[in-house]
Parts: sequence; C-alpha cells; structure tokens
Amino acid sequence: MTRTMPSGLFVTGTDTGVGKTYISCLLLHALAARNMAVVGMKPIAAGCENGQWRDVELLRFASNVDVPLDDLNPYALQTPIAPHIAARQEGVTIKIAYIGQCYDRLARNAELVIVEGAGGLLVPINTYETTIDLVRTLNLPVMLVVGMRLGCINHALLTAQAIKHAGLCLVGWVANCVDPGMLALEENIAALQHRIDAPLLGQIPFTETSDLTQQAQRIEVDKLIQIIGQGE
Ligand SMILES: Nc1ncnc2c1ncn2[C@@H]1O[C@H](COP(=O)(O)OP(=O)(O)OP(=O)(O)O)[C@@H](O)[C@H]1O
Ligand SMILES: [Mg+2]
Repeated sequence: MTRTMPSGLFVTGTDTGVGKTYISCLLLHALAARNMAVVGMKPIAAGCENGQWRDVELLRFASNVDVPLDDLNPYALQTPIAPHIAARQEGVTIKIAYIGQCYDRLARNAELVIVEGAGGLLVPINTYETTIDLVRTLNLPVMLVVGMRLGCINHALLTAQAIKHAGLCLVGWVANCVDPGMLALEENIAALQHRIDAPLLGQIPFTETSDLTQQAQRIEVDKLIQIIGQGE
C-alpha cells in the first residue's frame, strides 16, 4: 500500500536514552489536550522488564485512542540490545511490511500516530534494512529529539544529514535537556539552530516532576501541526 498523506510523525533521536519516549508522550499529551485523537506506536521494543516494555506502556498510557497492543507494538523483543541482534537471538525476522500494516490500522483510528524509533536513525532492523527504510516506507515526516549533552552537536548534525541524504523530511527538532549540569547549554542550542535546516520546536528543561502538562506546553505543537499539514 502506498501512503501519500502523512497521518503520523516519526520521532527519532540523537541516540538511545535521549528522551524520544519522553518527548513523544509530551506530544501525545499536548495533542490530546487539543481534542485530537492520538496514539503512540513503538514498532520495535527491545528489553522486557517484569513482563512489560516500558516505552510501550508509557506511549499507551499517553494515547487517547484504544488500540490492540500488537498494533501499537508489533515487535516486542526480550533483551535490551540492538534490535536486529535481539531479533536474531529470538528467531524473529523484523518485517517493515508488517509494521506498515499495523501502522495503517492505527492511522485509521487516530488523527495522528506518533511513531517512536528504536535508538537512532541508522539502527539496523534486520540484515539489510535500517530504521531509515522503515520511515521511508511509512512515508512519515521526522522530528529529531536532541539529548542535550556533550557530543550532541555531532550526533544531531549527522542525523540531520542522514535524514536529508535519505530524502526524508525533517519537520523540526527539540532540545531535550537530559543533562542538568550541561555547560554552555544555550550556546550549544544556538549552534544547532544555525546548522539544522528545520525549526527548533521546543526547549525542554530537565525536571524530576512526573507532571507532563507544564513540560508539554513547551513544545510548539501548533507550529508542528501546521508544518505536518503543509507536507500533505
Ligand atoms: N527533560 C527531561 N527531564 C528529566 N528526565 C528526562 C527528560 N527527558 C528524558 N528524561 C528521562 O531520561 C530517561 C530516558 O528518556 P527516554 O526513555 O524518553 O529516552 P529514549 O530516547 O526514548 O530511550 P530509548 O532509546 O531507550 O527508547 C527516562 O528516564 C526519562 O524519564
Ligand atoms: Mg524510548
């Protein structure tokens, strides 16, 4: 099935643990507050804790559309390692076409599907394909979460370059302040603003609080919706 209209957004990050799930949940929260029917999707989750996959549970909790768990998370792998290695160990072959079928079912039930990648954009998902191939098949615009910490400029610019090289559309990026002690934070953000050819859609401070409402207000959701809409 060829997808022409983006009914979703792919959230990638500069690395693992940079806040992709956190920001995806903020987005779901903000969109739900605008009365939009939204659902999160984690196509590939690697790492089971007490019978649950953390990202999957968080995304499901932040969604306001009830969907089958198998569609929200088609591939649930046990071990917290690179997905294609976990899949091979578990005798699973990750198929983009199957993820596409699950995505289509979600997209039929929601106005926007927020799809969270595993790790960064060049993470392999099977022997021959990477996350980029998945994004291309789903035909989704991309939002980049930059985990603001030492080394992030290089990771962010490499990711932006990979997005461009793959012919994907980067709709914006978020500066997620995962390191409360980061030195020269504002200069780092300014350096990225000058070099990334897409708007900064929010600067999210580090916070210990679990209340997402205030944090969600820091993302320019209306601008994001507008940009996604222009691409349709
Ligand atoms: N702005 C923030 N303030 C405080 N804690 C944060 C912030 N952003 C993320 N975190 C925390 O950092 C940790 C990593 O975030 P998260 O799980 O969202 O990363 P991720 O990129 O989705 O990781 P993965 O690659 O495993 O999917 C989590 O414990 C999350 O709650
Ligand atoms: Mg995550």
